[in-house]
Amino acid sequence: MRVLGIESSCDETAAAVVTERGEVISDVVASQIAVHAPYGGVVPELASRAHVQNVVPVIEQALAQAGGIESIDAVAVTNGPGLIGALLVGLSAAKSIAWARDLPLVGVNHLIGHLFAVYLRREGESTTPPELPYVALLVSGGHTAIYEVTAPGQIRILGQTRDDAAGEAFDKVAKLLGLGYPGGPIVDRLAASGDPNAVDLPSPMASKRTLDFSFSGLKTAVARHVKVNGVPEDPSDLCAAFQRRVVRVLVKKSVHACEELKIPRLVLGGGVAANRGLRARAKLICEKRGIDLFVPSLASCTDNAAMIAYAGALRLSAGERDDVALGAYSRSPDLRRGKLPKVR
Ligand code: KG4
Ligand code: ZN
Repeated sequence: MRVLGIESSCDETAAAVVTERGEVISDVVASQIAVHAPYGGVVPELASRAHVQNVVPVIEQALAQAGGIESIDAVAVTNGPGLIGALLVGLSAAKSIAWARDLPLVGVNHLIGHLFAVYLRREGESTTPPELPYVALLVSGGHTAIYEVTAPGQIRILGQTRDDAAGEAFDKVAKLLGLGYPGGPIVDRLAASGDPNAVDLPSPMASKRTLDFSFSGLKTAVARHVKVNGVPEDPSDLCAAFQRRVVRVLVKKSVHACEELKIPRLVLGGGVAANRGLRARAKLICEKRGIDLFVPSLASCTDNAAMIAYAGALRLSAGERDDVALGAYSRSPDLRRGKLPKVR
């Protein structure tokens, strides 16, 4: 089975063709970084407009690379959570294709896409995917949470951020330091040459009694530091100190979840999983504690449509279908109730 996946929940317009085994046949992503960079964050209306411009060429490219629309068996599309105007663009395209070609259609929760992205197989990759169940740390610009993943329809949220997502904190700190957008990769690069002990910052909600996170206090501490001392000429030390606090708490709580649940498998996902400090720390601590660590390739960590196609294939394989009345939602309802809802 070959599934066309479409993703437009935030600032990436993406389309991909993937098999039910996770083989990535094509994977096209049109980034809107240049559109939003002058504003230091995603502007929803501009995102919707850019999706409208990009969605058809991106889908055409993904289909052309995969051998045309005739080779497609089904369509999967992100229908939430995300920016509502942005979601509607991908959703309209997906519904039109499914209706016009009489193909099965499934809506995909973007977060479930991230949680199963570790099974994607791109050409030249030979990594072994994890067995189920596993613990997953999902860290992106919009989400930061730890999940227990038992099966595609059996996902339990163990803890999540009570305020900013980790990526959002990276982006806001970069903005405070005048470093540009998106800030995560820039802070990551600067942190590599900084001394994390040179600046004293608080550890954000580090107690293992809760698997929830909070990053707004740390961000405020950086803001206060800048207010008192000014923006440093070389921000490397401040970046290193900030990154270390974030990375340590993320790894500590994820590993704690693995140990508490006696699940010796940790999967990373989301854009912040590209962070070199996070990858290195997770590797170090997992090796020490006998936990197998699985980190998807960079292209599978950041927003992409291959993960949506694959999560869609899982639903299709379970016999699930949606009809062309499929709607979009901006927020996942009842995340706090311990389970990702099966929203379509
Ligand atoms: O998963 P993603 O592409 O989009 C969302 O679903 O949010 O994640 C984007 C986020 C941004 O906040 C970006 O700054 C952050 O991931 N990010 C990083 C790195 N690369 C991307 N954060 C820290 N270090 C990185 N190397
Ligand atoms: Zn995402």
